[in-house]
Amino acid sequence: MTDTLSDSRTSARMFTEGVPVVVEDVRRRTPAERAAVLEDPGFGRHFTDSMFVARYRAGEGWYDARLTTYGPLPMDPATAALHYAQSIFEGLKAYAQPDGSVATFRPEANAARFARGARRLAMPVVPEEAFLTAVDALVDADREWVPTEPDQTLYLRPYMLASEPFLGVRPAHEYLFLIIASPAGAYFPRGVQPVSVYLSEDYIRAAPGGTGDVKCAGNYAASLLAQEQAIEAGCDQVVWLDAVEKRYVEEMGGMNLFFVLGSGAEGGAAELVTPELTGTLLPGITRDSLIEVARSMGYRVTERLFSVEEWRQGVADGTVTETFACGTAAVITPVGEVKARTGDFTVGDGTPGPLTMRLREALLDIQHGRVADTHGWLHRVG
Ligand SMILES: Cc1ncc(COP(=O)(O)O)c(C=O)c1O
Repeated sequence: MTDTLSDSRTSARMFTEGVPVVVEDVRRRTPAERAAVLEDPGFGRHFTDSMFVARYRAGEGWYDARLTTYGPLPMDPATAALHYAQSIFEGLKAYAQPDGSVATFRPEANAARFARGARRLAMPVVPEEAFLTAVDALVDADREWVPTEPDQTLYLRPYMLASEPFLGVRPAHEYLFLIIASPAGAYFPRGVQPVSVYLSEDYIRAAPGGTGDVKCAGNYAASLLAQEQAIEAGCDQVVWLDAVEKRYVEEMGGMNLFFVLGSGAEGGAAELVTPELTGTLLPGITRDSLIEVARSMGYRVTERLFSVEEWRQGVADGTVTETFACGTAAVITPVGEVKARTGDFTVGDGTPGPLTMRLREALLDIQHGRVADTHGWLHRVG
């Protein structure tokens, strides 16, 4: 965030036309300090040495792109994002590959979703190429922070906020685009366990015409009370229903949902159903990837409305054999117990279902480079 260019060099990377990525002399922790963090990184608790920052001003466009030492942002108390939540973010991961290289997973999809979010929040768009350049620049600079233990990753958090200091409800004229990186341990260090979920009947996450299909900060702030209610009810996660009829299942906390109809054990016999993208749920990149992976394994995948009644009835009559949630952080999480005012039920026998685990392994194998990337989803960072 310094305005001086001392101890910095201009890299060959261009953020946008005429705006090179300046690489500062970042303060680095010692190999021993890094190893101590990577021994048990957890999730979202530790951050790497560098961060990427670029600035935007209306009339001028993007400027001052740089890799700098991770640290606090100087912030005026009137900074618009703090008052009006003009703020969007992304989440993706970098994976150490068996050949020693590092790859991110479908970063173009994150770039595209970020651009859509920016338009929805009346923010400037980070050109998709610039987004990819910035992600690559940060991962490359902090490459030694990409964990190499099984199922460990480097989680990347690109985000943009309105940085102009003013009070008043209008799109800001100044913005910051940043990327920070956080080493992440295996999500289920003691084995994959089904989560229990609470159907939110008091609160909604997103209504038609709202912002449910973009990753804006306000969506998450508005979800916290319902998540607390889920915890109070003894559940791990909240499941959102549609805002209008409170009848259709939309998503679980920060993850999309899939339902397995029929026997998941034998290839091709089961059908997967996932809530269709009505505009009120987030188009997850894991969701999209699993649709493709499952289809390539011979499973039928249907995107359609799926009601609570169909879920409950299907579990009772044996039609719905498995349910799982998916997202970048946990990849796939099985859903077990379901609590609702209208009656509780449990999917399966309390253990992860066979198709849930098969798809989980298949996607992890692609991401960690253990099988050929036939979909072209890995992006080598170099
Ligand atoms: C509300 C919500 N739904 C679904 C997802 C899953 O999306 P992805 O698979 O792109 O991580 C996320 C996480 O980004 C989310 O925040």
